[in-house]
Formats: sequence, C-alpha cells, structure tokens
Amino acid sequence: MSKKPIILGIESSCDETAVALISENKEGRPEILSNIVSSQVDIHKEFGGVVPELAARSHIEKIDLIAKKALDESGINLNDVDAVATTAGPGLIVCLSVGLNFGKAIAASIKKPFIAVNHLEGHALSPKLNSKVKYPYLLLLISGGHTQFLSVEGLGKYKRLGTTIDDAAGEAFDKTAKLLGIEFPGGPQIEVLAKKGDPTKFDLPKPIINKGGCNLSFAGLKTAILRITKNIKNEKDKYDLAASFQKTMEEILYKKSKVAFHKFNNIHLDKDKTFVVAGGVAANKKIREILTKLCEEENFEAIFPPINLCGDNAAMIALTGLEKFKQNQFDDLDFPAKPRWQLDESAAFLKGAGIKI
Ligand code: KG4
Ligand code: ZN
Repeated sequence: MSKKPIILGIESSCDETAVALISENKEGRPEILSNIVSSQVDIHKEFGGVVPELAARSHIEKIDLIAKKALDESGINLNDVDAVATTAGPGLIVCLSVGLNFGKAIAASIKKPFIAVNHLEGHALSPKLNSKVKYPYLLLLISGGHTQFLSVEGLGKYKRLGTTIDDAAGEAFDKTAKLLGIEFPGGPQIEVLAKKGDPTKFDLPKPIINKGGCNLSFAGLKTAILRITKNIKNEKDKYDLAASFQKTMEEILYKKSKVAFHKFNNIHLDKDKTFVVAGGVAANKKIREILTKLCEEENFEAIFPPINLCGDNAAMIALTGLEKFKQNQFDDLDFPAKPRWQLDESAAFLKGAGIKI
C-alpha cells in the first residue's frame, strides 16, 4: 500500500499561532497527528481587541516553537512531511506574512510542495475532520471576521448566497460583551451570562430581517445595545441584556438560514441536503440547537465541527492542504499574502465576506 500523505499546516492570520500535522487513516478519512494552538488573548486583553503589530511580533516569537511542538507531538520527522500548507489570507497582512514566510522556508528547505490556503476554506472544510461531508453543501460561516452563506460545490468552488453587509456575527458578540464590561474576547461569555437572564426583557432590532434574500446586518443591533447599556443598573439587567442579545442572534440566524435553504434548494435538486455551520460562533450551543431544529424542519442534515475546532486552528489548514495535495494543486513560493481573499471571487466585495479585521 502506498504511503499516506502527511501535511504540515500553519495558521497565523490573526491572534492564534497554530501548527498541525495531518494524514489519513486506512479508510481515507483525515487523521489529526497533532494540533497545537497558541492563543494571544492575554496580550490583547488590555486593549479590548487585536493589536496587529503586537500580534505579528508574538507570531514571530512563537512560530518555530509551536512548529517544533507539533512535530514532536506527532512523532513525525520533518523530512517525512509531503507538503506544507499555510494560510495566505484573508487576515492581517503583518500576521499572515509571518506564517507564510515560515511555511515557504520550510517547504523550500525540505524540497516539498508549498500550498497556499484560504483561511475561510479551512473553516469551510473543518467539519470533515470529524464527519463525512459530501459536496455540494450549504455552509453558514460565522466567525469574528465573516458571516456568510455559501453553496460549496467542491474544493475551491464556492457560490456566495448571502453575506453580512456590515459587522460579522462574532464581532457583534464581542462588541456586545465589551459594552457589558466583559473582557475581550467576550463572545463565549455572552452565552454563559445569557443562561442567567430573561431573553424577553429587551426587544432588540433585527436589521434587514424581512428584506428578501439572505444577506445579514448586525450594526444596528450594536447601536441599540449601546443605548440600553447606558441605563443598566444592576447585574440582573446585564444578564437580561445578554440573554436578549443571544436570543436575537438565534432568531436572525434561524430566519436567514431558512431563506438560504430555499435558495440552495433552487440550485440543487438532489434529495440529500446538508447544512454545515463553521467558524468561531458555531461553538455557541444555543445557536447549534436552533439551527439543528431548523434542519429537522427543512429536511437538511446538520453538521458542525467539534467545538474545539470551530475557532482558528491549523488542523483545518492542513486538511485543506491535504485535499489540494490530492488534486496536485500546489503554489509557487512567490504566492503573496492576500489580506482580502473571498471564497467566491466573482461576488461583489463586501466587508464581511472576505476580510478579517
Ligand atoms: O473563527 P474564529 O476563531 O476567528 C475568526 O476567523 O474570526 O472566531 C472567533 C469569533 C469571536 O468573535 C468569538 O467571540 C466568537 O467567534 N465565539 C463565540 C463563541 N465562541 C467563539 N461567539 C458566540 N458564542 C460562542 N460560544
Ligand atoms: Zn477564523
């Protein structure tokens, strides 16, 4: 039997320095050999958001140590790696450049192919790390930098059905958390506080919810939260606002996903339909629940990545590298960092569709 390919994946697009090694098992399913993620949360906390210069500096300081740790943990010798896959965009250019130069240098030194990966494609394929997912499928990508519905037709083949026209869903979670005085990144904390509050207490806007199509908007929500927080008197109000926000996000995503389902059904007439939800916000359990319910109502199979692989990691980058490797899709060593890199390059550029800031 021929040797299974081993791919080294590198991710540094924002505030996580990550390296992973991936291969395949006997059945041809992806197998994670190691997956190291080093978060910079402690560095950016005091600024309330990611500071690009500090993020890049930390990537430079850590990336070789993280790579060594990933190799050690996998038990793989660097010379046995068959290709190096690295995030080339979208993201912060100073951060992308660190991982990209590191990945290219390794590929050149071991004389193995280099593969440039779109970070969003990593999220899009991430559910394949624990589930069988067949093309085509409908994808809701919800993270800190992007929120969009895509019809995933195959590797590298994406058709955007809808996108946020302003903030990303994760950004809305983080900004709400900040207004409630929760430390950055507060998104996951909102989910925790929401459990203690009354979700019917505050009636928050759902921008463009009744407008046709499945574009989304979250900026108005943030303005409403800002107004309400000025009158917050006690902890109870804080919990109620977190719960009302969480509920509103669920309702927006439920309604817009339903529209996306119908759009997807009009393009794909096959019977078996799959809905994949990926990206950092896909870790939110209540959002998982409501979207699973929608799938039951609409006859879609709901698939989510494991919670620990919803946020940024290099396993998803190595996995995308593995798929590209199997199709002989390699890149030159002069492949540039692409701070703006949309999955559907034919779609009009909108902030939330291919940029991470
Ligand atoms: O995918 P990701 O790690 O980075 C980007 O590519 O943007 O997503 C990070 C985002 C942050 O905005 C974070 O607050 C949000 O995902 N997030 C959550 C939860 N866990 C992470 N938002 C809501 N509920 C959660 N449990
Ligand atoms: Zn991401």
